[in-house]
Amino acid sequence: MIDWREYWTRFPREFADDDFRRQVGRTANGGVPTPAPELDAVVAEVVACLQLGPNDRLLDLCCGNGLLSAQFAERCGAVVGVDFSEPMVAVARAHHARENVEYIEGSVLELGQLVDGVFDKVCMIESLAYFSPDDLAAILGGIAPTGPPHSRVLFSGVLDEEAKWSFFDTPERRASYEQQRKEGKEVMGRWWTRAEIQRIATEHGYEAEFFAQDERLNTSHYRFNAVMKPGPR
Ligand SMILES: C[S@@+](CC[C@H](N)C(=O)[O-])C[C@H]1O[C@@H](n2cnc3c(N)ncnc32)[C@H](O)[C@@H]1O
Repeated sequence: MIDWREYWTRFPREFADDDFRRQVGRTANGGVPTPAPELDAVVAEVVACLQLGPNDRLLDLCCGNGLLSAQFAERCGAVVGVDFSEPMVAVARAHHARENVEYIEGSVLELGQLVDGVFDKVCMIESLAYFSPDDLAAILGGIAPTGPPHSRVLFSGVLDEEAKWSFFDTPERRASYEQQRKEGKEVMGRWWTRAEIQRIATEHGYEAEFFAQDERLNTSHYRFNAVMKPGPR
């Protein structure tokens, strides 16, 4: 099993201080940074899925180096980003500081010890892969005290178990993945089914809806978005 804290502490240090997209793994075609219009599409998609508005206080779980958090801050009242990678948070504070953004270093599995106040919206972008089903339950349990049933909780860019083979789409890629799986070292992290997310959401008072990613994203053939809204009581 990969130690994700160790991984995400080491990985961003492989790149220059201002190589923001590589630091968070936003690359395609063997390491080429995601082009700006695609990043804009990610931001637009998150804003739409969350119905993010100017008065919202947003909790950005696994915010990385703040590349996206700073953009969300332009579209809402305030953002609190949480990430357990010391170098990511250092870059966020140095390069993506805004008056209405706070970056907190720590694990999203320990939110109770890290964040105060009430949040209107919650997101986790391209990061659910680093958590187990029990962790997802703990995260939903952990955000519960930070607001009334949040009107929207978004997990975007979730690795789609049902589309795995369209990502590992050659015999070589598939063999390399199978080898990683045998060794318990899947560098992409965990692939999820919609059904398991729905079950955990329901257990925490939410209903999950699932959406395909914007087709302009190079990840849209193997990732999906899950939006949770308060379920019937
Ligand atoms: C792929 S990056 C995504 C960063 C950002 N959300 C984005 O989309 O640009 C994954 C991030 O998840 C963070 N992470 C993974 N597990 C975490 C945990 N338990 N608590 C806090 N951060 C975590 C890593 O440190 C890393 O910054």
